[in-house]
Amino acid sequence: MKLFEKYSIGDLELKNRIVMSPMTRSRADSNGVASDLAQIYYSQRASAGLIISEGSQISSQGVGYTNTPGIYTKEQIDAWSKITDKVHQNDGKIFLQLWHVGRVSHSSFHNGAAPVAPSAIAVEGKTFTYEGMKDFSTPKALEIDEIKQIVKDFGIAAENAKSAGFDGVDIHGAFGYLLDQFLESGSNHRTDAYGGSIENRSRFTLEVIEEVLKVWSSNRVGIKLSPSNLFNSMFDSNPQETFSYLIEKLNDYNLGYLHLMQPQLPADKLPENYIKDVISTFRPIYKGNLIANAGYTRDKAIETLESGLADMVSFGSLFISNPDLPKRFALNADLAMPDKKTFYQGGEKGFIDYPFLND
Ligand SMILES: Cc1cc2nc3c(=O)[nH]c(=O)nc-3n(C[C@H](O)[C@H](O)[C@H](O)COP(=O)(O)O)c2cc1C
Repeated sequence: MKLFEKYSIGDLELKNRIVMSPMTRSRADSNGVASDLAQIYYSQRASAGLIISEGSQISSQGVGYTNTPGIYTKEQIDAWSKITDKVHQNDGKIFLQLWHVGRVSHSSFHNGAAPVAPSAIAVEGKTFTYEGMKDFSTPKALEIDEIKQIVKDFGIAAENAKSAGFDGVDIHGAFGYLLDQFLESGSNHRTDAYGGSIENRSRFTLEVIEEVLKVWSSNRVGIKLSPSNLFNSMFDSNPQETFSYLIEKLNDYNLGYLHLMQPQLPADKLPENYIKDVISTFRPIYKGNLIANAGYTRDKAIETLESGLADMVSFGSLFISNPDLPKRFALNADLAMPDKKTFYQGGEKGFIDYPFLND
């Protein structure tokens, strides 16, 4: 079965097609330095064909949550180096997810200054800060020179990821964060070269990719997109057109992979023109390696790979509670269910204490 077979992404050999999806675990310190516990957490999961790390902010401007790691200071790079060493010692492969949250932040993370976004449109609702729950801040619309600087920051972060010993980088283009905010019409009301037409709304994402490709060879760069996501107040007037344009363009770059999320809401909760099956919609358009994500089970993953709908499948929450998920899938063994209360609470519990089979 393909799920358990080796797979090559250019010169990168993966021991199976089971990918650990990026997951924020909020165990870093308040300076964005990953905790020593994360060395254990990631190396426990090194039997994945590929681990994609939790989102890691590319700059202090990119942060939006408490205790998430960064990749822009020496201490942060050193902490990540210890993690990549441990993963490699266990024969694993790991990419770093490069993250800028844009408007999904709060001014308390920025010494009182507004977070930044394509347009001054706030996310609805509240967010968790070091000072408790607060309304999302109204962001400041970025000036062109500030956009150019963020593109450069992605390049510097990609360079730092290389220094930290990662095998590659994953660009976070999903879930309503900065790249997605530029892409989707609901959060981008700009009238300059970065807004309006689909071509203009895609410009920032393509510039970020091109900057990162100055640092890494193309097979070592992936991107994650979520065309049917409404989380973080996201909306696009025509996701089919928007994402078809972008995904078609991605073919030009020969990236390591495109990581696509299925909708996380049931079809009847999505707007009528939203895509209900993201993978089968975009498989014919995307010519490179495709990772399918969101809600996959062992059997659905096997079926998806055998039918050629995707090349790899990623698992999020199941990898939290099953450090040896590939072995459990291979044996068709029972799976442990994750405890949501410990997803973000910090500490060892729910992080490094999920048992392996036969423990
Ligand atoms: C605790 C938790 C944290 C997450 N953090 C991130 C993140 O930092 N970056 C990202 O791209 N997706 C993040 N996700 C989404 C997962 O990568 C994945 O897309 C989602 O969980 C669906 O896959 P699943 O159904 O296998 O869990 C997170 C999910 C969970 C459960």
